[in-house]
This record gives sequence, structure tokens and C-alpha cells, in this order.
Amino acid sequence: QIVHLEDYRPTDFVLERVDLTFELDPRETKVEARLIFHRREGVSPSAPLVLDGDELTLTGLLFDQEEMPATLYDVSADALTIRGLPESAPFEITVTTLLSPETNTQLMGLYRTSNVYCTQCEAEGFRRITYFPDRPDVLAVYTVNIIADKATAPLLLSNGNYLGGADMSDGRHFASWFDPHPKPSYLFALVAGDLGVAEDKFITASGREVALRIYVEHGKEPRATYAMDALKRAMKWDEEVFGREYDLDIFMIVAVSDFNMGAMENKGLNIFNDKYVLADPETATDADYANIEAIIAHEYFHNWTGNRITCRDWFQLCLKEGLTVYRDHEFSADMRSRTVKRIAEVRHLKSEQFPEDAGPLAHPVRPTQYREINNFYTTTVYEKGSELTRMVATILERDLFKKGMDLYFERHDGQAVTIEDFIACFEAASGRDLKQFSLWYHQAGTPLVTASGSYDAAKQTFTLSLEQSVPPTPGQSAKRPMHIPLRMGLLLGDGSEAVATSVSGAEVTNDVVHLTERRQTVVFSGIPSRPVPSFNRGFAAPINLQVEQSADDRALIARHEADLFARWQALNTMALDNLVKATGQVRRAEPVTCDEALVEGLLTAAEDDRLEPAFRSQVLSLPSESDIAREIGRDNDPDAIQAARQAVLSALATSGRDTFTRLVGEMTLSGPFRPDATSAGRRALRNSALSYLVYGDERPEKAVNAFRAANNMTDLSFALTLLAHRFPFAEGTVEALAEFKRRFADNALVIDKWFAIQATIPGASTLDRVKALMSDPHFNAGNPNRVRSLVGTFAFSNPTGFNRADGEGYRFLAKQILDIDPRNPQLAARILTSMRSWRSLERMRADQARYALEEIAAAPNLSADVSDIVERMLQDE
Ligand code: ARG
Ligand code: ZN
Repeated sequence: QIVHLEDYRPTDFVLERVDLTFELDPRETKVEARLIFHRREGVSPSAPLVLDGDELTLTGLLFDQEEMPATLYDVSADALTIRGLPESAPFEITVTTLLSPETNTQLMGLYRTSNVYCTQCEAEGFRRITYFPDRPDVLAVYTVNIIADKATAPLLLSNGNYLGGADMSDGRHFASWFDPHPKPSYLFALVAGDLGVAEDKFITASGREVALRIYVEHGKEPRATYAMDALKRAMKWDEEVFGREYDLDIFMIVAVSDFNMGAMENKGLNIFNDKYVLADPETATDADYANIEAIIAHEYFHNWTGNRITCRDWFQLCLKEGLTVYRDHEFSADMRSRTVKRIAEVRHLKSEQFPEDAGPLAHPVRPTQYREINNFYTTTVYEKGSELTRMVATILERDLFKKGMDLYFERHDGQAVTIEDFIACFEAASGRDLKQFSLWYHQAGTPLVTASGSYDAAKQTFTLSLEQSVPPTPGQSAKRPMHIPLRMGLLLGDGSEAVATSVSGAEVTNDVVHLTERRQTVVFSGIPSRPVPSFNRGFAAPINLQVEQSADDRALIARHEADLFARWQALNTMALDNLVKATGQVRRAEPVTCDEALVEGLLTAAEDDRLEPAFRSQVLSLPSESDIAREIGRDNDPDAIQAARQAVLSALATSGRDTFTRLVGEMTLSGPFRPDATSAGRRALRNSALSYLVYGDERPEKAVNAFRAANNMTDLSFALTLLAHRFPFAEGTVEALAEFKRRFADNALVIDKWFAIQATIPGASTLDRVKALMSDPHFNAGNPNRVRSLVGTFAFSNPTGFNRADGEGYRFLAKQILDIDPRNPQLAARILTSMRSWRSLERMRADQARYALEEIAAAPNLSADVSDIVERMLQDE
């Protein structure tokens, strides 16, 4: 059951219209689908119509309103095959199915959450509603009629524009919706229930009025204010920056509390995990606000990149996701600090995507085969996909990139297309050949660029030797050299930037060196003194870079680079080098050393008032334990990494005590909470400084006081995290945890934080704590957010707790995966990917991890989702 890209061909039948009628009932929902088809020209007159299904029960089948003879069709739970259909005339098939939304625990198709009916159809959920050509290249116009009990479901929503509705005699009512834009089935949505609404409107650039509605649980309407504000800003930004206007009279968002992913861009009716809609100062952190802004924008931007122009097949998922992530990144960069946003993106890319690309689950941004498409909603498709779009923009530069985007919208509006179609627009707009560049879509693995330079004082030349290689990945042993746009600068001793009189050996555009060969020697002429090269400004290329650079050279970059991202990068690399060295020292039982240059570099930046606080906070936040593990790459001992990081942190805490004390005072805000980026940056810097003070102290008082003084969720949860992680068993911690839980007992999103904070307490004993928490009355194994906050957070974000040397963490996870899988395979498979770096662990742990994976693999009745992940994870290197 492996699907191959090369097997793609269009459907035999063209779908013209879809008419759906839902009679909603918790256990017996009746769905009638009237589908008008005609045979595609050139298709054999004997070819049957084959429709997809998934766990469906057929209760009726009509052909042009007449009962279909049993001899003319075959039906099973997952397919309906109809024979003897007209040669060329259009015909109507009416399919009736019976569903049980209430017992649909997979949360795919039509399901119930807190008494609300809702749908999730991407990627292949529509086939759980009715038999259908459930693939993204089948575009049709939909009419939807919804009938439901009026008392429990006063609200009946679907895609497009509202046509009308009325009460019925039996206590039920109905509503009809019409979506004039042809769409694939994965963008279908239906919501019915009793919800509150926040309303607003938006006037488009051409003067049309769009009604905006965000539906939330009754009483939570005020918590949708920020999401509404973000939506209006996103709509305006897309008009200004990409020239994209909204195209219906109404745009709706519904927040639900049981959702497998973040959110879904259904046409005109986005459905969201409520975690990415609801916010107020008392319950949401600055990170929550930033996520809401980004995800509201992301789903809205899909209206053009995804909906108006969609994917030909699921191999092209990055066509809409990579591009839309790029668009939401640019939006956030414009709303906030571009540099700080870029730092956060790169941190995320390196901590999530780089490990995926270096492990058994590595796959190309545009894969060529899959067993379970749900497992390809990955950070490689999304985040690396976004980086590829960013590289196109870097290579073409602003104006030609814009010309290419405009051409894409003009050429492909209303179509289902491929990555090749996308790239062809940029080639046409720029006249540039992007064939070699396209390898980025097809070759998995993070490229490694090795650089070394030498300066010739007599000739005043700087010679740079560059070498690139892409590591082998599953199914791809040999790789070709890629087109890598390396943004860089040469800094002179006084911090100014050298301007070369000429450059040979590579194409250079502005500060971009175009690396296209396996080995390339680039000579910069007219360089007056030995320069310090600053590589990969803005992280323009998603690569690993290997370069010998002294701490002094890095410090020069950190002080003088015009590109602020590169300043952060220099300091972060310096810190990472030190942390890797410290890990070796711990493993050899030597004392840990913290370099003077690092202390000096971090504190100088932290104290520099000319730099924005959010940036300084990023400088102070050391590479994470998993960043260190990734850098080391093999034979990892998470305990040693943790001990090394703590030792470096303590050394910094001691050296910087005065600075940190001053910063905590200076950065403390007064007055009412404001979620803007500047205020958030001050809170971030204050909390970074506070954490050094807390780690530099043997007593919990400072953290307890911060917890008591906090008047917003950012500071409160930060203080609680400090307390729990630094003093897990202190009385003050126990009290604070209990108080936090009492205070927010009726707010699920905050209780998720309470679970997550405890799941990430470092050390082997946290496993017992996690097990105990699973019996807490607040734990709910049926709610994805709750499961992720406890089990997922433990496995993904607690290196020492999860990777216990005795393997108990892995055995615990295996048990959880097998427990979750029968209910919700997507969730189980996603959490299982937390083990994707198991091969880079030291021998004993790697063996234990393998046993746990083998235990999962051997279990009976695994879902396709979980067995796909576990089998790839166990495949020989
Ligand atoms: N398209 C959604 C997004 O905005 C993600 C939906 C994925 N859902 C799924 N079941 N695989 O990114
Ligand atoms: Zn998306």
C-alpha cells in the first residue's frame, strides 16, 4: 500500500458538482451526496468509477435518481466501484452513508467535540464522510444542506456563502451554504453546535465588505479579541505585500478543543485548535500570542496559497505548506522584530527539522513515495519547505521574486499544480535556470558546507575554499551538488566591511556567493587586511557549516556585523562550541571550563542598550540540550549534556550576577499587560536574566518571589518553570504547583501548561511523576492537547527524563503509543516521532530504545500511521 509519485494520473471521471445533505445525529448521521460526473475524454467506456471510502457504511445508492442495480456496483468499507456508466453524457450518483460522529475518536472526518459537530478532512478525511474521489486534483463546486436539532445545534456552518435556512416542524432546522469556488474535498468543512461569536468586519482593497466571525465556547468571546485583530492585520498584509484579496462575503473561524493539529484552512471556514485562538493576559503567554498571530495568518494565507491554487497530489504538500509558512514568517517579521523572528525560526528549524533530516525519518521536501500521508505533515515539508521558498527569494531578489509570485497567481488560479509548475513561474519571471536549485526539493538531508580561508597580504586577496556535501538519507545514498546561496561578508579588524574590487570563482550577487560545485575556490581581491568572514547571514541557506574560527573572530562578528542575525549566530555558535567541549569534560570526569570570550561576549550583548531586549534575551538563552546533542551527533549521553550545560550556566550566572540583577530591575514592566512585541521582549530579557539568578542561587526564594509577584501568564508560568525545574522537591515548588492548578482548574489550556512544566523537570525521577500525573483527575487520554502536554512533552522535551539509562522512559512511551493508537492513530504516530534520534544515543540507551521500538512493531493491529513510523525508524541505516 505504498503510493508512488510516478503512478500519478488524472481521474477517469470528471466531477462537476457536489450537493451534500447532512442530517446530524450523534450516533446516526445520515449523509446524502449527489455527485454529477462525466467520463473524461479518451477514457475507455468500460472503465468503472472508483470512489474512496474509509470505515463507511453505505445505505443507499442511486443512478440518475433510480435505484442502482446490485449487479452494477461493489462496495466495501473503503471503496465503491460502479460499472456500466454512460460513455460521455453527464450522470448523477446519489450516495447515502450513515456515520457516528460521537464515536469517531480519530478526529478525522465528521466528529463531535464538546457537543459540537465538526470536521477535519485534510488529507484523506472526506472519505470517512462519503464515498468520493478524495484527492486534491478533483475540484468541484459544493452546495451543503445541514439539518440538525435546533436546541443543541442552533449554529449550522459550512464553506462559502450562506444561502438561507428555516425551522422545521420536528424541532429541527436547516441551513444551506454555497461555495462558488471549485475546491478539493480536503477543504470541505461543516460545524454545528451551540457556540458564542466574536464579530467584526474587513473592507477589502477593492471596497468589498467581509463579515468576520470567530466562534468559541460561550463566555470565551473576549478571549478571541487578539485573534480577530491578528486576522484583520493578516488580511491587510496579504493585500499589501502579495496583492491577494479575500474572495467571499464571510470569513469564519471556529475554535474547538479536540483537534489533531494546529488548525485547518477549510475554504471560508477555518477550524482551529482553540489553543491557537484563545488568549488573555491572565492565561496566555507571549509565546501563545505570537503563535496565535502566526497561525491565524497562516490559515488565512492558505486561501490563496493552498485553496485558490492547490496541490495536484499529496506529494506536492510543500507547494502549499512551504510557501504558506514562508508567508506567515514574513508576516510575523513585519509585525514584530525581523531579526528576532528569524532567530526564533532558525532555532526551531535546527532543533526540529535538522534532527529529522539527520535520522531515519529523513525525506525530501517533495517526497516520491509514502505509505501514510498523515506522516508527511512534517517539519521538513513545512519548515524546510519554507526555507526553500526563502532561498528562491534570495536568489531572485525582491522584485523578481514578486514578479514570479504574481505570475504564479495569474497562471495557476483555480488549478491543482506541482512544485515544477511553481518553480517554472520563477524561471519565467527571472530568466534564471532553477534546475539545479530544484534539487533542494528532491534530495533529503542537511547539506554540509566546509569553508576555509587564507589571506595573502602581498596580493591583497582573500581565498575561500568551499566544499559542499549532502549526507546519505534513507533511500538516497548518493547526492548531487546543490545551488546554495551563501550570504556572507568579510569584516576587517576595525569591524567595517571589506568591499572587494573583484570576485572570481563563483557568481556573486550583492552579498550572496552562489555555491554550485562540489568544490569551489572563491577569490576576493582588494582586501586591505586579513578579514574575518561572516557566513550564512540571515541563515539564508538551511545548511550545516563547518569552519575553523577563533573565539576572537566570532566576538568581532558579534560586535560589528551589520546583520544582527549573524551577531546572534556568532555568539550562539561560540556557546555551542563551549557546551560541546564541556560535555566531553563531564564524560572524562574533568572540571568544566567556561571560556572568557563567551562570558564577555554574552554579557557585552546583554548589557548593550542599543540592542532590543528580545534580541538580548535570545543571546542569553543558551543552546538547548538537544541542540548540543545534535551538534555532537553520535554516542550521546543526555545526562552528561545536561550536567555540562548546568555547569556553564552556573559559571555565567556567577560572572554575570550584577548584570542580571540590574536587568531584572530595568526590564520589569509596570502598568497593564500589553502583548506587543516590544513589551514581550522586555519580559523575555527580564526572565532570561532571572533564570541565571535562580540557577546561581542555592535557595528557591527568588523564584518563589517571582511567582508571587507575577501579574501575567508569561511571568507566572516562567517562574513556576524555574521553581519546578531547579527545585523540583522544594516546599515552595509543591505549594506553587498546587496553587497554580487550583487557580486555573477550569481553564484547559492553562492546565496543559501545568502538565507540561512538570513533564519537563530534568532527571530520571520525572518518569514516576509523569506516571502519577496520568492518574490526575485532570488528565484526559481522549484530548490531544492534554496527551501532548504530558506524554508528548515528556518524550520530546525532557532529554534526561525520557532517555533514562535503564530504558524505562522508552518502555513507558511504547505502552502509551499502543494505548493511544487504536483511538487516534495520527496522534500516536506523531508522538512516536519523538524517538527519531535514537540512533545517535550512546550504545546502552540506543539498545533500550531499539527494544521499545521492536515491542511496538511486534504489537498486533497497529495502525498504518504507527507501523509506517516504527518501521522506518527501525530500518537498517
Ligand atoms: N493544512 C493544515 C495546516 O495549516 C494542517 C492540517 C493537517 N491535518 C492532518 N490531519 N494531517 O497546516
Ligand atoms: Zn498550512
